[in-house]
Amino acid sequence: MPARGKFITFEGLDGSGKSTQVEKLARSLRAHGLSVTVTREPGGTTAGEKIREVLLHSATSGLSPLTEMALMFASRAQHIHEVILPALAEGRVVLCDRFTDSTEAYQGGGRKVGTKAVLQMHEILCGNLQPDLTIMLDNEVAFSVERARRRNRRHKGARSDKGSERDENRFEQESRAFFGRVRHAYLAIATREPHRVHVINARGTPSETHAVIMELVRKKLKI
Ligand code: TYD
Repeated sequence: MPARGKFITFEGLDGSGKSTQVEKLARSLRAHGLSVTVTREPGGTTAGEKIREVLLHSATSGLSPLTEMALMFASRAQHIHEVILPALAEGRVVLCDRFTDSTEAYQGGGRKVGTKAVLQMHEILCGNLQPDLTIMLDNEVAFSVERARRRNRRHKGARSDKGSERDENRFEQESRAFFGRVRHAYLAIATREPHRVHVINARGTPSETHAVIMELVRKKLKI
């Protein structure tokens, strides 16, 4: 049986540059001969992508914070069952764009549901699965969110491959105060779990940030 793989998650505010860094790390690890699975939340499975549409479309602005949290965990439970655990069992490196820290930051902090409820749901629905390493890309709220809004304006009206209009604006429409709470909650997680969570300053160029991440991954996971 192959040795269990490694589970690496990426976290950060909207527009912090996570997706670019996930892709860059995947490319580098594959170049080193590793088998890599790249995935994301909410989403990552057929059911999860449907849940993602409900969660992120600006038309669903009436979701209660608890409904939002429950849907995030519904997507995650399926994702763990269908993608993450099987890939780890095959010895693969799993790179996941967002995981439970996002729920703790956005629903726990941003929506004020609190940390305790999120951690309890994680225990029940996710078997308390913990990443081997979490890379948290940190930047000022104004910088990250403006970048995310610019990106969504560019994508507005674009069609997804399923033919529906792409609209993932619901969170980007939130206030500065909301994102201030999200960032605060993220940094509190990093302080609570320094062995797992590494905060990386995301103000450099994509290549500079990638170099810092590669060094960290090499050191932490001995790969
Ligand atoms: P994502 O596609 O990663 O957005 P971006 O590329 O802009 O960072 O995530 C979509 C949104 O979902 C993002 O605004 C954060 C939100 N989210 C939560 O609120 N809770 C969660 O548990 C997760 C996974 C995401």
